[in-house]
Amino acid sequence: MKRILVTGGLGFIGSHTVVELQNEGFEVVIIDNLSNTTIEVLDGITAITNKKPVFFQIDLKNISKVKKFFKNNKIDGVIHFAASKAVGESVNEPLKYYENNITTLVYLLKEMQKNKVNNLIFSSSCTVYGQADELPITEETPIKPADSPYGNTKQIGEEIITDTTKISDLNAIVLRYFNPIGGHQSILIGELPIGIPQNLIPFITQTAAGVRECLSIFGDDYETPDGTAVRDYIHVVDLAKAHIVAMKRLFTKNNKEKIEFFNIGTGKGSSVLTVINAFEKVNNQKLNYKIVPRRVGDIASAYADTTLANNELGWKSKLTLQDALRAAWLWQEK
Ligand code: WQD
Repeated sequence: MKRILVTGGLGFIGSHTVVELQNEGFEVVIIDNLSNTTIEVLDGITAITNKKPVFFQIDLKNISKVKKFFKNNKIDGVIHFAASKAVGESVNEPLKYYENNITTLVYLLKEMQKNKVNNLIFSSSCTVYGQADELPITEETPIKPADSPYGNTKQIGEEIITDTTKISDLNAIVLRYFNPIGGHQSILIGELPIGIPQNLIPFITQTAAGVRECLSIFGDDYETPDGTAVRDYIHVVDLAKAHIVAMKRLFTKNNKEKIEFFNIGTGKGSSVLTVINAFEKVNNQKLNYKIVPRRVGDIASAYADTTLANNELGWKSKLTLQDALRAAWLWQEK
């Protein structure tokens, strides 16, 4: 039975990926420093799969802990989620982002190399493309200078991994996520925004629940069908499943290059107003919202061309925006 290390495995995408890994018969070891999640997520995972993952509370900035972990644990593959991911926060605290997202990646890769762990799935983001000149976004769409330190850490992370695959036995698959939303149908795990939510869906569900007074729509003067910004919202369970397919591709040595990149989205763009209307309809709610000026750093429109992931990976999103908005609301109510 292959043993997979999932760093950041108690996070939003990490926890949903751990569930799918266990469903597929993989043994899972989680490293998480609990800086942006709670230990209760481990109970949620265990309640869903009846298999408690091995858990180490380790901060990957502590290189001696990382060394010790790899010395004591046989690992066949790594899925690396652990990173800070708030775009706005990264603008105000760049060094926190470079330290937490880049230094830890270097430590992880060094110890993987030393211990001959040669299979890596890396959590990247459509943020690396910035505002693409042409839509939909393919893996060939030019990478533009990052709009935020967060986006820059993803670009640099991809380059570090690329360079490492050139001089070692490392094989990697980089998954560039679009906008992950929703939660598990068991309602035992979901998106746990700690503090004021940065992302749209948690803000919508908290407004509907009365936790937030009013949702602000950041701008309705974009060059889009209804003036509000467009994104490709992908159900987190579909996204989780893409990691399993990618991991298996490496284990069966079906990868065509030592490093491969895939856009993981639905291929469909939805505007903020479309999402709000869909949320109200599917959950029979009335949302209180107002239009405010654009948020600095936001792009107008991004959605994926998923041809490569569909044809090459053999993965396609199956769940709908409505499924995700339903799951998000049930999680919020709980
Ligand atoms: C979505 C849309 C906002 C909140 C970022 C990162 C990406 C990933 C997801 C980490 C935008 C609008 C939002 C609100 C709003 N994170 N919005 N009112 O910015 O597309 O992507 O988060 O991996 O890498 O770049 O996601 O959910 O913040 O915003 O109008 O209260 O909703 O303007 O158009 P974003 P988001």
